[in-house]
Amino acid sequence: MRSHLCGEVNETLVGQSVTLCGWVDGRRDLGGLIFISLRDHAGIIQVVVEPGSEAFEGAERLRNEYCVRLKGTVRMRPESQWNESMATGKVELVADEVELLNASAPIPLLMTDEDGEEVRLRYRYLDLRRSRMQRNMRIRAKLNQAIHKHLDGNGFSEFETPILTKATPEGARDYLVPSRVHPGQFFALPQSPQLFKQLLMMAGMDRYYQIARCFRDEDLRADRQPEFTQLDMELSFVEEPEVQASAEGLVKAVFKDVLDVELPSPFPRLTWQEAMETYGSDKPDLRYPMQLHSVDEHVAHIDFRVFAGPANAAGQRVAALRVPGGAQFSRKQIDELAAFTGRYGARGLAWIKVNDVDAGIEGLQSPIAKFLDDKAWGGIAEQTGVQSGDILLFGAGEWLQTSTFMGHLLVRCGEDLQLASGDWAPLWVTDFPMFEWDEDSGRYTAMHHPFTAPQSDSADALKANPGEALSKGYDIVLNGAEIGGGSIRIHKPEMQQAVFQLLGIGEEEAQAKFGFLLEALKYGCPPHGGIAFGLDRVAALMAGEPSIRDVIAFPKTTTAQCPLTDAPSPISDNQLDELHIGVKTKSE
Ligand code: AMO
Ligand code: AMP
Repeated sequence: MRSHLCGEVNETLVGQSVTLCGWVDGRRDLGGLIFISLRDHAGIIQVVVEPGSEAFEGAERLRNEYCVRLKGTVRMRPESQWNESMATGKVELVADEVELLNASAPIPLLMTDEDGEEVRLRYRYLDLRRSRMQRNMRIRAKLNQAIHKHLDGNGFSEFETPILTKATPEGARDYLVPSRVHPGQFFALPQSPQLFKQLLMMAGMDRYYQIARCFRDEDLRADRQPEFTQLDMELSFVEEPEVQASAEGLVKAVFKDVLDVELPSPFPRLTWQEAMETYGSDKPDLRYPMQLHSVDEHVAHIDFRVFAGPANAAGQRVAALRVPGGAQFSRKQIDELAAFTGRYGARGLAWIKVNDVDAGIEGLQSPIAKFLDDKAWGGIAEQTGVQSGDILLFGAGEWLQTSTFMGHLLVRCGEDLQLASGDWAPLWVTDFPMFEWDEDSGRYTAMHHPFTAPQSDSADALKANPGEALSKGYDIVLNGAEIGGGSIRIHKPEMQQAVFQLLGIGEEEAQAKFGFLLEALKYGCPPHGGIAFGLDRVAALMAGEPSIRDVIAFPKTTTAQCPLTDAPSPISDNQLDELHIGVKTKSE
C-alpha cells in the first residue's frame, strides 16, 4: 500500500513521487492551503494540500487520527521553514491523492503527556500511537533482541518453564489458578522460574536463560507490576565471579547495542555492609556525589543525648550527610525533609548550616551548635569535607534504621538539588546477610530466597549463628534501581534442609512444598548459580521513563487492574460451579 515510511522521507527523495500511510497527527488550514502532519511508527512528515488540487476536498474532511493513504511529490521546504528537530524537517510532501482508509470517532484523550493514567490505559491502543510510546516499545524490543543475540552467542540456550505450577516463594503472595479436574486444588503462577531453572541445571542443561513472565501479588509502585518480565539466567559449575562476569558482560553488550553507551568497566563493587554504611541503601545511586559519614567518635563526648547516646551504644550510629549548597534550604524545607525522614521512622533530623567554614563554630547556624565544642566540630568538618554554603543533616539511632532513613534523604536531596553527575552508574552489591529478623512473625526470613547458599559450607556453623551469616547473593544496581539479583544456590540436601529449618519451615511443610527439589538435590546436583534481571526496569531506565508502566504495552494500574479489558472481573455461576468454587461476599 505504501512506498515509504513517513519518518524516512528526506532530502534524498526530493522530486520523487511517494505513497505514505498513517494517521493524521494534526491538520491546519492556512490561507487556503491545508497542512497535515502525517504520522506512522517511523515519524511525522508535513504534507501540503494545495487549493484546487484533486486531493483538496478529501483533505478538508480529515480529522485527527483518521487513517489515510497519501500520494504526492517530495519537495524542499523554504529554508526559513526548516525544522531541524524533525528528521523530515527540511522537506514536505505535496499531496495529489488523499485516500481515507478509515475515519476515527472523536479521540477521548489528548494524546499528550497531560493525559491521566486511567484514560491512557483505558485507550492504550491510542496512547501507544504517540511517538514517545512508540519509541519506548521499540527500545524494549531492541533490548530483547540484543539479549538473545548476546546470550545465544555465549553458550546459553533458552528453555521455557511452566506457568501453571506450584508456588515458588520470592516474598510475595501467589496468583492462584483453580483446577477444574481436581476440585479444591490450585496451581500457582510462578513468582519466578527459580526452582525450574535449578532443576534444569540438575538436568545437565549447563547454561540457561529465559525471557520469562513472573507473577507477584504485592503492593504495587512505579517500579513494580503484578505481572512483569525477567531475564532469567542460570549456570552450572560456577562460583560468584563467573556468574557476575557473565551478567556484567551481558549488561555492557546490551547497553552498547541498544543505546550505543559504553558502561564503566569493571562495575564498582560494594558489600551490603559498605553500601548501607556509606549510602544508607542496598541500591545506592552513585550518580549523587554524596555519602553518609559516621561521626560517632566526634560526638561521643558532647552534652547532647540524641547524639551521645547512639554514638556510645553498640548497634547504633550517628550519620552525617553533607548536602553541597544546602545552606540555602529554608526552615520550611528543612521541616519537610524532617517529615520525609519521619516516614522511614526517624524521630528527628538535626542540621547544621555552614555559613562560613573558616569561622569555626561561630560560622554555623544550627539548633545544636550550642552542644558542639571545637573538638567535635573540627572532627565533623574534617571528616565530611564540608564547605561554606553546605548543610549537614544528621540521623542518630539504631544502625539499620538510621542508615536507611539517611539513605532516602541522600537521594531526596540529590534529586531536589539536581546533583546527579554522569548518566549511568552501575554497581554490584555483594555479601548480603543470609537472613533478616522479622519482628512481626518472630522469625528469620531469607534476604534473597531460601535457595541461596550461605558463604560457609558448614550447616552447623550456619545454625550456630544465623543472624551473622552472609550469603552468596548479589544484586546489580543501576542509577539507584535494583535491576537484577541472584546468588550461588544451595546444591546439597543437608544445607537446604538446614536453611528451611532456620526459616521456620518444618520438615512436613518442606516436603509438601519443596519435596521435589529436596529429592532432586540427592542425584548428583552440580554446583550452580544465576541471576535474574527485571527487564521492565532495564527498559524503563534505557527509555528514561520513571515508571515501568511506560515500557509495558498493556500494564496494570497501581490497583492491579486493567482498565482496557476491565480485568479482573466477575465470572458466571456456571464457571464457578465447574471450578468447585464458592465466592464469599465482603460482608461474610
Ligand atoms: P528477585 O525477586 O530479586 O529475584 O527478582 C529479580 C528482579 O526482578 C525485578 N522485579 C520486578 N520487576 C517488576 N515488578 C515486580 N513486581 C518485580 N519484582 C522483581 C527486579 C529484581 O531485581 N529468582 C530470583 C533471581 C535469582 O536468584 O536468580 C528472583 O526472582 O529488578
Ligand atoms: P530534641 O532534643 O528532641 O528537641 O532534638 C534536638 C534536635 O535533634 C532537633 O533538631 C531534632 O530534630 C534532632 N533529633 C532528635 N532526634 C533525632 C535523631 N534520632 N536523629 C537525628 N536528629 C534528631
